[in-house]
Amino acid sequence: MFARITGVGSYLPGQAVSNDDLVRRGIETSDEWIVSRTGIKARHLAEPGQASSDLALEASRRALAMAGIDAGEIDLIVLATSTPDFIFPSTACLLQAKLGNRGAVAFDVQAVCSGFVYALTIAEKFIRSGSHKKALVVGAEVFSRILDWQDRGTCVLFGDGAGAVVLEASGEPGILATALHADGSHHGILSVPGNVSGGQVTGDPFLRMDGQAVFKFAVRVLAEVAHECCEAAKVAPDEIDWLVPHQANIRIIEATAKKMKLGMDKVIVTVDRHGNTSAASVPLALDAAVRDGRVKAGQKIMLEGVGGGFTWGAVLLEF
Ligand code: ACO
Repeated sequence: MFARITGVGSYLPGQAVSNDDLVRRGIETSDEWIVSRTGIKARHLAEPGQASSDLALEASRRALAMAGIDAGEIDLIVLATSTPDFIFPSTACLLQAKLGNRGAVAFDVQAVCSGFVYALTIAEKFIRSGSHKKALVVGAEVFSRILDWQDRGTCVLFGDGAGAVVLEASGEPGILATALHADGSHHGILSVPGNVSGGQVTGDPFLRMDGQAVFKFAVRVLAEVAHECCEAAKVAPDEIDWLVPHQANIRIIEATAKKMKLGMDKVIVTVDRHGNTSAASVPLALDAAVRDGRVKAGQKIMLEGVGGGFTWGAVLLEF
């Protein structure tokens, strides 16, 4: 029994906001600084009133349409987000209501930018156990809401969006191997160290990051976990048709590809157009590559995530 992706979909809110648009909005930065350090040229920002569940709904509808199944047939919804609509209920339950699905297991996963890879791995285990047959796995974020727009070192890096896949039980491969890790001792290098308590915000409700520490950590673990996944599946790295890494920064992506001895012609890059959309970045990039015809049936795809926690992981699959 395999768990196989049968549909992908994504959604980006509003119009693209370029680096020059950010300068026009009063941020002390430049297109040259952002592009040379990160590769980011534009990002999408949610409209006021648009929440993660709204973006998730559009992406999910597109994934369900590609899979050719009705929302009512889904028996598991796993949604990765660090920007939920509410403290509770979960964004997965809000998505379920918007889709008109009743009875599916539905819950959120919190693993920041590794969230989608975590969610896909969890859904795969449900399906391989035989308990569930048709899962909707979603990454949805409105990071623009937790950015300090006075902090030019972080606010230029992120964007909003959602991506989704339908994962079904199948006799055909399928997800071949998964690997997840976390090391909470690094929690301080990327965090939103605030909360709501007694009706007030406590601590700091904005994203804070030690950029250079994140950079070094990400490059090391992304190459390691890709090799771990290849070994588990007995697939050589050069057999991978496409690497779909978390889209944080083109320099992290290029360094990871180099360590894996993969040419950039085998790497899906959307960070230039989307910025870093955290848990949405991997399914957004996968959807882009499926819809433009690069990713084809039968190819081997490596998905990779790394993010706050610190968390990291990889999923190797045959599409
Ligand atoms: N525009 C112009 N100047 C800026 C900007 C900006 N947007 N941001 C910072 N600067 C300035 C700083 O003030 C500083 O100026 P100074 O030298 O006069 O003090 C200078 O640029 C260098 O600042 P650094 O923070 O040292 O810049 P660095 O070269 O480290 O680049 C960056 C910062 C791009 C964040 C880099 O550290 C990086 O790529 N880190 C990876 C982090 C990442 O991608 N995080 C995403 C989230 S984590 C994840 O998804 C896994």
